[in-house]
Amino acid sequence: MQSEYGVMDLFDDLPPAPDDAYTLIAPGAVLLRGLGREGDAALLRAVQTVIAQAPLRHMQTPGGYTMSVAMTSCGALGWVSDPQGYRYSARDPVSNQPWPAMPDCLLALAQRAAAQAGYANFQPEACLINQYLPGAKLSLHQDKDEQDLSAPIVSLSLGLPAVFLFGTPSRKDRPQRWRLVHGDVVVWGGPSRLAYHGVQPLEEGAHALLGRQRLNLTFRRVRV
Ligand code: SIN
Ligand code: FE2
Repeated sequence: MQSEYGVMDLFDDLPPAPDDAYTLIAPGAVLLRGLGREGDAALLRAVQTVIAQAPLRHMQTPGGYTMSVAMTSCGALGWVSDPQGYRYSARDPVSNQPWPAMPDCLLALAQRAAAQAGYANFQPEACLINQYLPGAKLSLHQDKDEQDLSAPIVSLSLGLPAVFLFGTPSRKDRPQRWRLVHGDVVVWGGPSRLAYHGVQPLEEGAHALLGRQRLNLTFRRVRV
């Protein structure tokens, strides 16, 4: 496969995605079933390397709650929530060190997914890593802390299945429910960039590779 990015060459040995692996879930929003499955062991190792340097932590919301999802980041910027608000930061506030670099295999998968969904030249600066243990959930929200809303969000799910809620940019519209399993990727941008989305409480289970957890990685372009 001709690579626009160089790093995409890492995936040259993968077969092309079959047509039914592409599902339009809303205008500008695409579900790519299983795109991250074949390289899963390397992707997981890369995530573990990040977590070893910037451990998962339960952040405080501005409203005073502790999030049930544990989070960390890699890339030039990481997402931070504390009583002062939500923002992107170049440093991990726990260590006061820069976030770990975004591993090449993660960046390559995000760029490949964006391209397949119709978003060329995706250059994410942040990869937010969410860990859900059974019972953890993420309430309906918009990803709107990024300045560059022209770039999509790319989301990779690993481990236990989850029910992903995906709506529209209006909170009044009832979201659709999608079951996301290990290796699934969702890309949302354009008219769905500010769509409300969330994750229902994770069910108990054990995944062959990840055990009793779900990891979700969201790749974001932050600065214009
Ligand atoms: C997010 O909205 O940041 C994560 C979504 C997910 O865990 O699938
Ligand atoms: Fe989100």
